[in-house]
Amino acid sequence: MNLEFKRHRRLRKSPAMRKMVRETELNAGDFIYPIFITEEQGEKKEVSSMPGVFQFSLDRLNAEVAEVQELGIPAIILFGLPHHKDEVGSQAYASQGVIQRATRQIKQAFPDMIVIADTCLCEFTDHGHCGLIEDGDVLNDESLELLAKTAVSQVEAGADIIAPSNMMDGFVIAIRQGLDEAGYAHIPIMSYAVKYASAFYGPFRDAANSAPAFGDRKTYQMDPANREEALREASSDVEQGADFLIVKPALSYLDIVREVKNETGLPIVAYNVSGEYAMVKAAGQNGWIDERAVALEKLISMKRAGADLILTYFAKDAARWLLEANQ
Ligand code: PBG
Repeated sequence: MNLEFKRHRRLRKSPAMRKMVRETELNAGDFIYPIFITEEQGEKKEVSSMPGVFQFSLDRLNAEVAEVQELGIPAIILFGLPHHKDEVGSQAYASQGVIQRATRQIKQAFPDMIVIADTCLCEFTDHGHCGLIEDGDVLNDESLELLAKTAVSQVEAGADIIAPSNMMDGFVIAIRQGLDEAGYAHIPIMSYAVKYASAFYGPFRDAANSAPAFGDRKTYQMDPANREEALREASSDVEQGADFLIVKPALSYLDIVREVKNETGLPIVAYNVSGEYAMVKAAGQNGWIDERAVALEKLISMKRAGADLILTYFAKDAARWLLEANQ
């Protein structure tokens, strides 16, 4: 036989050779860890659809943040479960709101931890939608003012980054202007620029108690069938002054992660959402897959696709696994 072909296997011969040609690396420094915070007392309650993820009351919170910090994870994103909800989501922008109190507490105890505030109303409204409601519809422009007000109150409490997840048109410029006028021109916006109306958010809505009381979010979150629309959303947010762009969910949307990275060149965050986490946990607990290997393979695929950062419920586990692998 006289065949001509390339010998790709040469570079796969040994662990050392494979390591040398590895193109993508995963580090604890790439992760952002989500934390759910309640107004109860003495509470650390596991979310039933998200094993290993808990809701913390303020008095139990510092131990969790300390663990995150020790693992080398640079940032957390906070989600609140307020006692009081109303039509306008007033606890989202209350100076004593659960997120504002948690932020103050964390920044005092852990000044180096980057605290990202999720800026949205759905956890704080009694109807569970991300903006104000009129005649069963979510109002756009009227919601922007409250979102800007929420962002300012979060930064007043010490938030380092504002992450608006509400998907109203114009939210980046409204929040940018609100922050600038309040003297916070130095605070970056990590925009949920490309957020699909996804069934993968199910477990999060259990964790944050934020399912919409009626209807769905399809008039403001995107249709999973659309790619060009994602690029339009991303470019609007770039024009309006976003500093980071989030693509959410991550796994079924890695094509979008790559394209948004190529088109914008901004730091891209892949949000590895609750349903993506729950599936791996459940299959792992059943012994159907190797949880650790599958989770790490998914995370590396997000970086390979172009994500600079990964927002993931696996952050603590993955940081531990990476430490073990390097020992
Ligand atoms: C709030 C928000 C949601 C998620 C993050 N911020 C839920 C939603 O849009 O209903 C989902 C995150 C996840 O599933 O992990 N707007």
